[in-house]
Amino acid sequence: MKALVLSGGSGTRLRPFTYSMAKQLVPVANKPVLLNCLENLRDIGVTETGLIVGGYASEIEDVVGDGSALGLEVTYIHQSAPLGLAHCVALAADFLGDDDFVMYLGDNILADGIEAAATAFREGGADARILVTKVPDPSHYGVAEIDADSRVTALVEKPQQPQSDLAVIGVYFFTNAIHEAVRSLRPSARGELEITDAIQLLVTGGRTVLAHEYHGYWKDTGKIDDLLECNRELLGRLPDDGPPSDGVDSASTVHGQVVIGPGARVIGSVLTGPVLIGAGSVVENSAIGPDVSIGPDCVLKDAGLEHSILLEGVTIDGVRELHGCVIGRWAQVRAPDNDDVRQRLIIGDHTQAEVSA
Ligand code: G1P
Repeated sequence: MKALVLSGGSGTRLRPFTYSMAKQLVPVANKPVLLNCLENLRDIGVTETGLIVGGYASEIEDVVGDGSALGLEVTYIHQSAPLGLAHCVALAADFLGDDDFVMYLGDNILADGIEAAATAFREGGADARILVTKVPDPSHYGVAEIDADSRVTALVEKPQQPQSDLAVIGVYFFTNAIHEAVRSLRPSARGELEITDAIQLLVTGGRTVLAHEYHGYWKDTGKIDDLLECNRELLGRLPDDGPPSDGVDSASTVHGQVVIGPGARVIGSVLTGPVLIGAGSVVENSAIGPDVSIGPDCVLKDAGLEHSILLEGVTIDGVRELHGCVIGRWAQVRAPDNDDVRQRLIIGDHTQAEVSA
């Protein structure tokens, strides 16, 4: 079995971050989302992996390389415009040949792996097997209708009136039957070749499409609040290695699960886990956590922060009561000089700030 990982797309719902980085490289628990996907593929024994990349191809290549560090052999496939998930299958047709493959959306996190679904697919009997999970808001997703034997009877992309609560969750196992369906697709109302339409063609053509209900933790990290929620979940799964032995001075207190990266220092602070502090970061006279991941080379002084993600090189100086923040690379958040009570913002396009009145 091969893999096809989709890591293009424009990521408009994750602006402003996607103005300068691929949405699949935004870190969750200090690891790019895309690496979680590639690790899941490695764990089901896949090696040959086609990686569809768009505007941030070179940044993705810097992180993933040839895949050998993960035990994968990665072939990059360039998509010049985000024309849909089925367009990616068409672009990868030569790479995939007639092999079975697993298609994986690179911004989806399935924290409990995909072994059971892979095993079921390998046992045969289906032309396609798609992962689904029950959600409270199915109209935001592809929605599967199934019969008592888990056979998919209909698949609709983001229906206004969903007929089931089973959302399609970004991992699809296909035989070569999908290629013919993709070749006969026409663009949808939003101008894309939809994979849901291709699968629906398999269903109407009498092929066996099975739904595999995923009972593990799943999140599409394409929106800020989902990213933060996923960060909280993955931080909660940090291995319990006991209190950090290095980097925390005697004037600091640590509660719960806290992981300190190489060279990071914590001085006179209170850390309430789960908290992850990246390599080389300095936290001084601050109250951090719970549910905070701090990237490498950040400086936090007189700061208070919970339920947040800081990317690389962030400075926070003299600002407390921060919560639900995602702060981009090398951004600075500081209290005004000289007790000025006014508030000054220098923020980029599509940035959100909630400041006190
Ligand atoms: C895509 C698929 C949708 C699926 C979702 C899962 O939607 O089109 O069927 O349910 O991923 O994350 P998108 O996130 O591209 O809007």
